[in-house]
Amino acid sequence: MKPRSKNYLLIFSLLCCLCLSVSAGFAQELEQSQGLDQRVENFLKSQRGKWRHSNVPRADARVLYDLIIKNNYKRALEIGTSTGHSAIWIAWALSKTGGKLITIEINRTRYNMALENFKKAGLSDYIEARLANAHDLVPQLEGPFDFVFLDADKDWNQKYLELLLPKLEVGGCFTAHNVVNLGYMRGIKEFLEYVRSLPNMETTIDRTSWTGISISYKTSD
Ligand SMILES: C[S@@+](CC[C@H](N)C(=O)[O-])C[C@H]1O[C@@H](n2cnc3c(N)ncnc32)[C@H](O)[C@@H]1O
Repeated sequence: MKPRSKNYLLIFSLLCCLCLSVSAGFAQELEQSQGLDQRVENFLKSQRGKWRHSNVPRADARVLYDLIIKNNYKRALEIGTSTGHSAIWIAWALSKTGGKLITIEINRTRYNMALENFKKAGLSDYIEARLANAHDLVPQLEGPFDFVFLDADKDWNQKYLELLLPKLEVGGCFTAHNVVNLGYMRGIKEFLEYVRSLPNMETTIDRTSWTGISISYKTSD
């Protein structure tokens, strides 16, 4: 064989090896993500009808999941973990975008139940769960965030927004749960009026379920 042909053969072999290892890596990644999907789906299925700690309805959790995937968000914050239903959907979406969630809960029993649920769903690596009063912790969080979900003490919604707006990236999204039932939730009306008055926030209300989620995009600093 001529030396030139030998070189071609060598280059061809190297390229084949490279293609094989890239596709093996890709296949492994695909298998891992399919494995995680299956685990989360199985966990959610096992929990159907069992979320009893003021958890969001499945339809609302799905809205949060879709928002994160659509906008490729990666740095999420949730206030009000409870036992972790919404956090599981948020973290599941973040497992696909390569992101991470910080979620805050003040009640120790609920916090511990959430930790268990995150483990069972296989999502612990995507969640930093904090046991704290969000009133104290939120001012200390560095950010930036590109996705925020409020689902705790509604009369603090406006305060949370004021604290977090400087830490929210342009293009980021600030969401709040239970905004449709203005009658009995103190602070919701004031929060909605405030967020709608901000010139750099564009707000719509998702009414997929009866509870309603406000979705506010930050358009500029
Ligand atoms: C409506 S539940 C959250 C449901 C949760 N997002 C889910 O879907 O599973 C509200 C939670 O906020 C927590 N909470 C209320 N005030 C809080 C505060 N200041 N800091 C942290 N958590 C708080 C409550 O203990 C409660 O578990």
